[in-house]
Amino acid sequence: MHSRAEYDHGHPAQLLETLNTAVLLLDAQLHLLYLNPAAENLLEISRRQITGQYWPNVVKADAVLVERLSSAAGERNAFTEAELELHSATGRRMTVAFTATPLATNQLLLEIIQVDRQLRIAHEELLLTQQQSARELLRGLAHEIKNPLGGLRGAAQLLEQELPQADLKEYTRIIIGEADRLRNLVDRMVGPNNVPAKRVVNIHEILEHVRSLVDAERYADLVIERQYDPSLPELSADADLLIQATLNIVRNAAQAGAKQIILRTRAERHFTIGHHCHKLALRIDIIDDGPGIPAQLQDRIFYPMVTGRHEGTGLGLSISQSLINQHQGIIEFCSEQGKTAFTIYLPLENTNVC
Ligand SMILES: Nc1ncnc2c1ncn2[C@@H]1O[C@H](COP(=O)(O)OP(=O)(O)O)[C@@H](O)[C@H]1O
Ligand SMILES: [Mg+2]
Repeated sequence: MHSRAEYDHGHPAQLLETLNTAVLLLDAQLHLLYLNPAAENLLEISRRQITGQYWPNVVKADAVLVERLSSAAGERNAFTEAELELHSATGRRMTVAFTATPLATNQLLLEIIQVDRQLRIAHEELLLTQQQSARELLRGLAHEIKNPLGGLRGAAQLLEQELPQADLKEYTRIIIGEADRLRNLVDRMVGPNNVPAKRVVNIHEILEHVRSLVDAERYADLVIERQYDPSLPELSADADLLIQATLNIVRNAAQAGAKQIILRTRAERHFTIGHHCHKLALRIDIIDDGPGIPAQLQDRIFYPMVTGRHEGTGLGLSISQSLINQHQGIIEFCSEQGKTAFTIYLPLENTNVC
């Protein structure tokens, strides 16, 4: 085992100490010999605590990984895994890119880079640009529809006044009624475009309001559980818009037939949303135990008119996403049979210093 002091300035080994990549050295029995500061950081352990320990236990490595590591050390086969699941010492799950290289001494050199953070950011940027172009397209289309619609409605009104027989007015009523319905639909498709009226609000009051609204809709056997973090600070937001954004998500879960919905709040430190890094962000998880979002819808779920229900409009989630975007936040989700989790991230402290 090398102590930090042995890594003199100018010595190539000193580079390990400054590297951003986590580097670890294991013996052939997978006991920890050395880890650099980046590895201490990533795995949330201090080398003083754990040198000499059996590494697979520290990161809860599964049997498959243990087997591969042992044979890598024994048979001198290096291997690389683009996406591997590991746990930090505090139990935080992460996806990492992983390389194990056996050394001549039968020791094993590990290089680990956390990738889920990068994957998430790349995925989010794509999501935001896609949604933005979809919204622009719709806005253009809406304009083209609403203008002639206004003309149609006006003409029907004039015609109504000129009609000699009252029973003929039934037809002009239909024209006017349908024109109004179409205009309404187009407005909802395009989504809200007004600037949020921000005030200091308490996120738990907002969630409690949503809960009481969904409770009042009386879904059979539905239990809504709260897991609030009472230490969260207040945030500056438009309460009505946040209520609408959250309600759409919770209501979807109830309509999908969930029996339990969990509303959870947490703080996230140093969190990137789109291109902006925030010192502190609020995280709201809405987790349900329903059947999950149909696989063929998952890539398009935030687009308007995408629905899996007969009576659905497919507008709920697209409206929620644009309301949260207006607050510089983002909505993500993860869904499988029996567990669907929507997560809303909202910046709390608006700073680009992370
Ligand atoms: N929690 C959920 N569980 C299962 N399916 C969901 C859930 N949330 C959304 N969905 C699916 O996503 C679709 C789109 O939702 P949304 O945009 O609110 O439109 P709508 O509710 O009008 O269909 C729903 O029709 C449903 O198929
Ligand atoms: Mg809906």
